[in-house]
Amino acid sequence: MKNKVSIIGAGMTGSTTAHWLAEREIADLVLVDVVEGMPQGKALDLQQALPVIGKDVTIVGTNDYEATAGSDVVVITAGLPRKPGMSRDDLLIANAAIVRKATEETIRRSPDAIYVVLTNPLDVMAYLTMKLSKLSPERVIGQAGILDSARMRAFVAMELGVSVENIQCYVLGGHGDEMVPLTRHSNVAGTPLREILSPERLEAIVNRTRKGGGEIISLLKTGSAYYAPAVAVTQMVDAILKDKHLIVPASAYMQGEYGLKDMYFGVPVQIGSKGIEKIIEYKLDAAEDAALRKSADAVWQTTEALLSLVNI
Ligand SMILES: NC(=O)c1ccc[n+]([C@@H]2O[C@H](COP(=O)([O-])OP(=O)(O)OC[C@H]3O[C@@H](n4cnc5c(N)ncnc54)[C@H](O)[C@@H]3O)[C@@H](O)[C@H]2O)c1
Repeated sequence: MKNKVSIIGAGMTGSTTAHWLAEREIADLVLVDVVEGMPQGKALDLQQALPVIGKDVTIVGTNDYEATAGSDVVVITAGLPRKPGMSRDDLLIANAAIVRKATEETIRRSPDAIYVVLTNPLDVMAYLTMKLSKLSPERVIGQAGILDSARMRAFVAMELGVSVENIQCYVLGGHGDEMVPLTRHSNVAGTPLREILSPERLEAIVNRTRKGGGEIISLLKTGSAYYAPAVAVTQMVDAILKDKHLIVPASAYMQGEYGLKDMYFGVPVQIGSKGIEKIIEYKLDAAEDAALRKSADAVWQTTEALLSLVNI
């Protein structure tokens, strides 16, 4: 029997996730959105692309959650981007309501699903999904770290003219400007980045990584990144469905790890068929630890804002 993945929100990231997933031929897909006709049209278009690439999966587009029943994985990408005049709390309230609806409608139809959350503010929306679904924390994972690390890997590859396959980078912390690129743990075919790049070049790459999402928003003007976020979600779904025990950075529920509690935060995790199998604790030096605490404070403030606005 084929696996089933439901993607809630068939906008740019949702439909691009469907595209990457269909190429891997690992699950039948359901795309749900509130806009009438749009998920149906995108699903049909994608379905018609599959004969060309020789992939046999079924893609359903719908405005009705009924089609999501029995999903193995639910991906939540539904949500509004920030518009001029909107405060962070406005976005928080709007997206919390959307994520609440998406979670409540899917969990009763797919009580055994693993959730991968993409909607921003990411760490807090993953927290909300976990609380509302009442799932155990390892079954709800937020996507941030694969994307942030991939951005850093791309910048290092561009700088050095080396294959991206040889570059490992690890970006931890909240999915925001305070994220923590761990240069000490990042390497090119085993050689630490710090031995290859000058402090100035490394600093420039770290800063560009931190602002990687904003750089794309300012170029696109009418939306945010979607290819890289969607392929990051795809890698997580792949790791779940294939029980890969894959170690990647992702947003996970903290229960004392890194000295943090009752919040979602970007840390290295091992992902398999049960969701997060393990949270890996790196030994951090004083500077890394201070940067992580600063990032955690920012996520904690947004989490507190959520708790003051939403009844969970
Ligand atoms: N965590 C990350 O790395 C990351 C990366 C990129 C984008 N994002 C976030 O993901 C979210 C989606 O981004 P996008 O670029 O796909 O935006 P988008 O506007 O292209 O798509 C969002 C979709 O959600 C739909 N939607 C709204 N309310 C809904 C509801 N109640 N039920 C179902 N669908 C609903 C909209 O109709 C729209 O099609 C945003 O919050 C964005 O900030 C996160």
